[in-house]
Amino acid sequence: MRQSTDGVIVLRVSVNGESRSAEVSPGVSLLTALREQFGLPGAKNACEQGECGSCTVYLDGDPVCSCLVAAAQAEGRQVRTVEGLAGAGGPAAQDAVQRAFLACGAVQCGFCTPGLVVAVHDLVHRTAENHSEDLDDATIREALAGNLCRCTGYEKIIEAVRQAAADVRSEHRSQRPGQVAA
Ligand code: FES
Ligand code: FES
Repeated sequence: MRQSTDGVIVLRVSVNGESRSAEVSPGVSLLTALREQFGLPGAKNACEQGECGSCTVYLDGDPVCSCLVAAAQAEGRQVRTVEGLAGAGGPAAQDAVQRAFLACGAVQCGFCTPGLVVAVHDLVHRTAENHSEDLDDATIREALAGNLCRCTGYEKIIEAVRQAAADVRSEHRSQRPGQVAA
């Protein structure tokens, strides 16, 4: 990482699989860098205090509140945002979690949705990779305790998580040798 005499840092980071660089002020959060320097407004800024989860992104494969991560801490690392979950090609290429949120009506104002989608993506993929069948409501609620939604009452979100979990489990099964998709 290079720092100019006026303190500006040249940040180099992999974002959604692409090598990117940008000049950022010291102390700027990863969330601000993503939104303002890298043109990725998916992660939202609702509290900037690590309380709401609306800014959740993957950092080296782990979900983090990007408002709590200094951009400089992401130097040389892999960031994946909600924009990086879907493939190219519009709605047909949506990720299973995005499809489930839409199908179940789990989106109202949408402010919490990008952070929730990343958190749910992590939950359902970890569950499927561990060959675990059960995602009961208590497990889902506990896993999503850091993501606040003021609109939905969570029931439709939980329904979307169950649907996404079933779809992702089925995808994982079909990719395992000798297994038949459910
Ligand atoms: S904006 Fe980061 S947790 Fe609320
Ligand atoms: S849909 Fe509005 S905050 Fe969750």
